[in-house]
Amino acid sequence: MNEAQVPYIGTELPGPKARAMLDREKVWVSQNYVKDYPLVVDRGQGMVLTDLDGNRFLDFAAGIAVCATGHCHPRVVAAIQKQAERLLHLCAIDFYYPQVVELAERLAAVAPGESEKRVYFANSGAEAIETALKLARLRTGRQKIVACFGAFHGRTMGALSLTASKATHRRGYAPFLPEVHHTHYASCYRCPVGREPETCSVECLDLLEKSLFNAVAPPEEIAAIVVEPVQGEGGYFVPKPEFLGRIAELAKKHGILVVGDEVQSGFGRTGKMFASEHFGFEPDILVLGKGIASGMPLSAVVASDELMQWRSGGHGSTFGGNPVSCEASLATIELLEEGLIDNAAEMGEHLKSRLQALMEKHECIGDVRGLGLMLAVDLVKDRESREPDHELLQKVLYSAFEKGVAFLGCGASSVRIAPPLIITENEADIAVDVLDQTLGEL
Ligand SMILES: Cc1ncc(COP(=O)(O)O)c(C=O)c1O
Repeated sequence: MNEAQVPYIGTELPGPKARAMLDREKVWVSQNYVKDYPLVVDRGQGMVLTDLDGNRFLDFAAGIAVCATGHCHPRVVAAIQKQAERLLHLCAIDFYYPQVVELAERLAAVAPGESEKRVYFANSGAEAIETALKLARLRTGRQKIVACFGAFHGRTMGALSLTASKATHRRGYAPFLPEVHHTHYASCYRCPVGREPETCSVECLDLLEKSLFNAVAPPEEIAAIVVEPVQGEGGYFVPKPEFLGRIAELAKKHGILVVGDEVQSGFGRTGKMFASEHFGFEPDILVLGKGIASGMPLSAVVASDELMQWRSGGHGSTFGGNPVSCEASLATIELLEEGLIDNAAEMGEHLKSRLQALMEKHECIGDVRGLGLMLAVDLVKDRESREPDHELLQKVLYSAFEKGVAFLGCGASSVRIAPPLIITENEADIAVDVLDQTLGEL
């Protein structure tokens, strides 16, 4: 057996050790999520996941767009180990330690826009969204919030009230936060108002401007519009460039704050540090998570000094800004700036052109879209109707797993291409070949 061979499948799947673990999992672990395939991981290194039985998979999911620097990057691990020997936890609410200050300085420096920034640290994307909601209400004195259909902002009650990508996230949990309204996103491949991107004038925003503002949510009562610069769980939709600009304009006109949720699109994934930069978009409140610390739990909210003002004790979190997570984040940002962002842009282009070429062979691919290493291959029942083929997606994910590539889905029917940013051209080609073969067989 060649240790360097990846993918490598040497047992039936799941193998005997994985099966035994899955049997125990079914007894003891909350069954809140049916997984796409039974991958039981023992270790991760770079782009490679090794399961309990020694099978090796190329990771095209990166722990849902988290492991930006690959699994266990030696510099991230060294930073974590060094910090773990000095201080594991202190609580940034009550005490000071340098890691919070150093990371806040770095994030303030890389965040889009010229204004002086301040940073608040939390642990998860949802918690950072809750922070943004509280800050927006506190600082505007307004209550209403607007989010987009197709959005995913997390699963805590405030964040969930904004989330509108799949009914299953919300079913059974009502009532949600009052005064939350939803408007269309520029999900152009399935335009919510039936236009074509080449000729549209961003009419998807009419719902906000003409209907919501006039009939149910007077703009002077809206605290914030929350938007993902590239919509993630909803299906990796890149909005028409004018979309975010128009939102910013409307918000400015009515004194509404814009919250940019870059939890998934941030930290180099789209080939720039933040997806907002592709559109010259500067959210008033920037929400960060996932890739921020290469897999250590951490999230952050960045806003101008003027905006990020709280009553003392008005907000906080026991673990937010944990020193080990902060060190992992500082190492991550260094690695991104040293070349991984550029690699994401370059490999993203390569992957996109190879995936687009697959469209000529496979009628079931309706669309290939995305930016950098945030790409989606949308599977449809037919290209005319663009009807999502969710069953095919499930089969593709399972079959690719059996061939040693771990993809996830996004939206109703897209294969999500979100590998670590360290990916090489050879690894990209292997995954595309596996997808090609899988689609051919199915
Ligand atoms: C854009 C976006 N915002 C927020 C979240 C919630 O993050 P978390 O799962 O860390 O709470 C996610 C998670 O997928 C996300 O993609």
